Amino acid sequence: MTTNTSAQTTQPTQPTQPTMKAVRQDVLGEPDVLRETEIARPQPGVGQIVVAVHAAGVNPTDWKHRRFGAFLGEPPFTLGWDVSGVVEAVGLGVALFQPGDEVFGMLPYPYGAGAHAEYVAGPARAFVPKPAALDHTEAGALPLVSLTAWQALVDVARVRPGQRVLVHAAAGGVGHVAVQIAKARGAYVIGTASAAKHDFVRGLGADEMIDYRTQDFVAEARDIDVVLDPLGDEIRLRSLEVLRPGGILVSILPNGFEDVPARARELGVRAATMLVEHDQAGMAAIAELVESGRLRVHVSETYPLADAAKAHAEGETGRVTGKLVLTVRP
Ligand SMILES: NC(=O)c1ccc[n+]([C@@H]2O[C@H](COP(=O)([O-])OP(=O)(O)OC[C@H]3O[C@@H](n4cnc5c(N)ncnc54)[C@H](OP(=O)(O)O)[C@@H]3O)[C@@H](O)[C@H]2O)c1
Repeated sequence: MTTNTSAQTTQPTQPTQPTMKAVRQDVLGEPDVLRETEIARPQPGVGQIVVAVHAAGVNPTDWKHRRFGAFLGEPPFTLGWDVSGVVEAVGLGVALFQPGDEVFGMLPYPYGAGAHAEYVAGPARAFVPKPAALDHTEAGALPLVSLTAWQALVDVARVRPGQRVLVHAAAGGVGHVAVQIAKARGAYVIGTASAAKHDFVRGLGADEMIDYRTQDFVAEARDIDVVLDPLGDEIRLRSLEVLRPGGILVSILPNGFEDVPARARELGVRAATMLVEHDQAGMAAIAELVESGRLRVHVSETYPLADAAKAHAEGETGRVTGKLVLTVRP
């Protein structure tokens, strides 16, 4: 047995792993299952960065996972896919970033969650530099909703100048960004929202608004090239009727989509469904839209990390305008 004499002359130290605060849950359920807990800080794996989270958006998928487990199954887990923060450490092979860089991005969906914490690890290529025009709260609100809207409208539907785009739930997280992305692509944009939110959505560039509570959008919207559907069910099936021949509906709700393709074929239109993917090229496009003044994000409320349950409860009302954000380092 060898003895380390220098260790004997110093105070004994416990090898302590650095810890952090994270919002965890051990069971599925109501918002009160969320607990701020002290857990081990992540280390960067190969190709990963660790980000000191300054702000992290809260999205419907967070409360769906909290309640139902969805793709993640049984807890314990930490939710949160949106990140804005400062690079704390880089893993082997990462040349794109260094500690101190301000970044924002979306962690791999669905299995890379963990942003509702003081630190999170993710692939370097999920991130891009944070535009100076955004503070961390705004940047933390954007990634998941803007990538969803970008991938739906640009990658899948390939929106072109002059096309007519119908954005359902245009005042929501995805919708209010989708309106701006469609406008930036040169489209004519029609949105649905309750009347009190029409001025807000028009202010983002919408050309026409439909009050879904008092008007039937099928009667109001005609010859549509692209429908963005964040609502599903009957609204999704009926949305096929407003498309011009060859037009496309992109639904971001895969559940229940099985009924849609056959009806689309009957009507001579197309339909697709998608789940958002982490996407550095998409994030770069979003950052460019922000920097050129064509995209802004509306943060309706912020919460400290410890109040994640309040943010979930508010989000679950389904009435949020724009985004809710956890401010982890205010
Ligand atoms: N596939 C994917 O990868 C993906 C990605 C992101 C989101 N999603 C899903 O897409 C859905 C929307 O997400 P989100 O973040 O935009 O939600 P959100 O921000 O919670 O949406 C809230 C908005 O929806 C509006 N709304 C509710 N019912 C409406 C209706 N019948 N017609 C028009 N507007 C209506 C509300 O406006 P009023 O108050 O005026 O009703 C509110 O402003 C969620 O189910 C989410 O899980 C999927």
